[in-house]
Amino acid sequence: MKKLLIPLLLSSLSLTGCEKSTDEVKVEGRWYTQSQVDTGRQLFADNCAECHGKDAQGTANWKETLADGSYPAPPLNGTAHAWHHALSALRRSITNGGIPLGGKMPPFKDKLNEHEMDAVIAYFQSKWDDKIYAAWSKRGGVDVSR
Ligand code: HEC
Repeated sequence: MKKLLIPLLLSSLSLTGCEKSTDEVKVEGRWYTQSQVDTGRQLFADNCAECHGKDAQGTANWKETLADGSYPAPPLNGTAHAWHHALSALRRSITNGGIPLGGKMPPFKDKLNEHEMDAVIAYFQSKWDDKIYAAWSKRGGVDVSR
């Protein structure tokens, strides 16, 4: 695993050039562990990246409704609204998806168990900068324990 990760990291760093690095992983002082982030990275790539983007960057025009009135997949990397939702609400979104609310996201209740969902959340939260994470915490973000 380690051996594979290093060349991957290097190549994505050189690709992003002078853009802000999306490979920074924030763990310290947060509710999750590095190992949850590592597990979540793979689960995210397998289940979420096709819509939300590999780095959880979302779709470019995520604020504009599509022809059918639904929204494209938003960024989950702290630049959109995901930080308005406490942990329980994030888990609920992933469990039930958006279809019951007129959206497009499929439910993951039969695909991911609760530990896997937490790992996926840990992965995209590891991309939130400290300011966003602090604002989320202040709103009562960590409202469930595990
Ligand atoms: C088929 C495309 C698709 C897949 C796959 C998908 N999503 Fe989504 N997701 C969406 C769309 C579109 C929305 C906007 C609401 C809607 O239409 O359901 C959304 C909304 C969300 C939200 C709410 C964000 C907010 O700002 O309120 C979260 C959290 C989320 N997705 C997480 C995930 C995670 C985690 C995975 C993988 C386990 C995933 N999604 C897989 C399309 C997808």
